[in-house]
Amino acid sequence: MSHLFISTSCHSARTPVKIFIKMFSRLAKPSTVTFIVSRSFCKTSQAWQSPKVAVLGAGGGIGQPLSLLLKNSAKIASLSLYDIAHTPGVAADLSHIDTRAHVTGHLGPASLEACLTDANVVLIPAGVPRKPGMTRDDLFNTNAGIVRDLVSAIGDFCPKAMICIITNPVNSTVPIAAEVLKKKGVYDPRRLFGVTTLDIVRSNAFVAEAKELDVSKLNVPVMGGHSGVTIIPVISQANPSVSFPPEERKKISERIQNAGTEVVEAKAGAGSATLSMAYAASRFTFSLLEAMAGGEGQVECAYVQSEETDAAFFSTPLLLGKNGVEKNLGRGKLIDYEMQLLDAAMPELKKNIQAGVDFVNKS
Ligand code: NAD
Ligand code: LMR
Repeated sequence: MSHLFISTSCHSARTPVKIFIKMFSRLAKPSTVTFIVSRSFCKTSQAWQSPKVAVLGAGGGIGQPLSLLLKNSAKIASLSLYDIAHTPGVAADLSHIDTRAHVTGHLGPASLEACLTDANVVLIPAGVPRKPGMTRDDLFNTNAGIVRDLVSAIGDFCPKAMICIITNPVNSTVPIAAEVLKKKGVYDPRRLFGVTTLDIVRSNAFVAEAKELDVSKLNVPVMGGHSGVTIIPVISQANPSVSFPPEERKKISERIQNAGTEVVEAKAGAGSATLSMAYAASRFTFSLLEAMAGGEGQVECAYVQSEETDAAFFSTPLLLGKNGVEKNLGRGKLIDYEMQLLDAAMPELKKNIQAGVDFVNKS
């Protein structure tokens, strides 16, 4: 009797069950083969107990470490990895890790349906990163089309999924996604996020270092958008509160705004932040999954459709819930310096949003 291990497309438990079937061969007499099939948890109608997370761009600098961090979490039952390169290898590699998530790799557009069907959360780090001397806006020409096409597939194959966009320029790629979903009649603004968590992670790190605080207990919100002057660190709302002399506040705020460029220059042509971004995106994903499963008090900043300003998209702290954004917690009170940052951000932010909207509607 031979043994073959098959894991189902749903989450696999460690206890195998045995199924006996008859095998027929043209040459040999019928023999019995034991298929050891992983017990499936898919019987439950409660998807949040066995969530499927898809990563589009999983073979890249962010995609690979992000997929590793997701694979390391017991929250995720199924991890579906898509790219136009590398995913069979990345998936095979990750699938040998003895954690809960069942990993599948998908290569090329024809495999998007299999990757996305039944996905509850889709993360998009697909697209080109900056080189020194470039702005995030310089990525628009290449990345706008990539995001449009991937989000179109999401609209077709998992229109109810939470969509978390990492691809730059986030200020424009999120409005692009919204327009694509609107055209398909499946846009739900509560379920579309631009991932800006790296700005918060950096702010926590820089402020904790400057004030010699326990970084694990510090939260510094960052609002607005995700590029240069549109990044608005709101240090006045840090929890626990911190105080800086004006010059020092300005210096640390500008460092937060330019932190992406700091990494791009340090990498000297080898790309932009990948490891810290993977960490940040995994943090956002875990908060979202916790909220989707009914966990209370999950608050993260993210770039979403918003009425907080006269820009159609704006990042503020959000209370997350089963359906995504449960409540926009708003801007709160900004000090004069932060109001100046807000004023400086608005023209650029609105221009970036319009470019995204025009890309879908005029092309
Ligand atoms: P990378 O070049 O290392 O990886 C990108 C991956 O995308 C590659 O594996 C590539 O094959 C894949 N890809 C390209 N076109 C694709 C398509 N049509 N479908 C699926 N996959 C496709 O780049 P990276 O360093 O991982 O950065 C990815 C993006 O994330 C960049 O746009 C970068 O600017 C952005 N980023 C955003 C933040 C943020 O805070 N939101 C932070 C860092 C980087
Ligand atoms: C970052 O903030 O690190 C990313 O947006 C990547 C970049 O181009 O700076």
